[in-house]
Amino acid sequence: TIADLKGAKQGRLSLSVVTTAKYVIPRLLGSFCQNYPAIDIALQVINHQQITQRMLENKDDLYILSLPPEDIDLCTKPFLDNPLVVVAPCNHPLVGQTQIPIEALNNEPFIMRESGSGTRRAVQKLFDKSKVSVRVRLELGSNEAIKQAIAGGLGISVLSKHTLNSYGDRGELTTLDVVGFPIQRCWYAAYLNGKQLSVVAQTFLEYLLESGKSN
Ligand code: PGA
Repeated sequence: TIADLKGAKQGRLSLSVVTTAKYVIPRLLGSFCQNYPAIDIALQVINHQQITQRMLENKDDLYILSLPPEDIDLCTKPFLDNPLVVVAPCNHPLVGQTQIPIEALNNEPFIMRESGSGTRRAVQKLFDKSKVSVRVRLELGSNEAIKQAIAGGLGISVLSKHTLNSYGDRGELTTLDVVGFPIQRCWYAAYLNGKQLSVVAQTFLEYLLESGKSN
């Protein structure tokens, strides 16, 4: 409530978020900061492994990620869905088919995120479980670069739905209806257990959880 926020009008907020959250968090920060223009924000957009490293060094107030590390004592709060979907170029032969068996991905040219990526970990887990082995043609450390590579015909990939824009990426990209997808996940807001959150961080956390409810 407004009364709670009085103490939050100034200060510094340090956030680290996984690569997919960059499609959502800056906008949320925009509306948050309209009410608190005097707050300074530092936002890192990195992968899961890099977030884990920053947690170990107690670098930030809050972290946003999909796979909270189990060996760090964290308080985690889920706030928004973050499903993974199969992304292909619009002219891919499987486009338009429904309930495509996952085995159809065997030997497909595939573009994989870098090691240390949570997206990669979730994809690899499903492929291992389903005994599917794709042909990794390219490893890329950026969701945007992967989208460009898919559009360029280098292969298919699995990406967070948040990386796809509502305009269908100029009609170049589409999703495939493969059994086992979407991989259902969510984003968590997390902080080190026992860490005393600043008023600003506490206020932003509540704002995040609240905005998740309305989406
Ligand atoms: P990643 O995480 O950047 O480590 O792949 C993204 C996500 O899990 O949504």
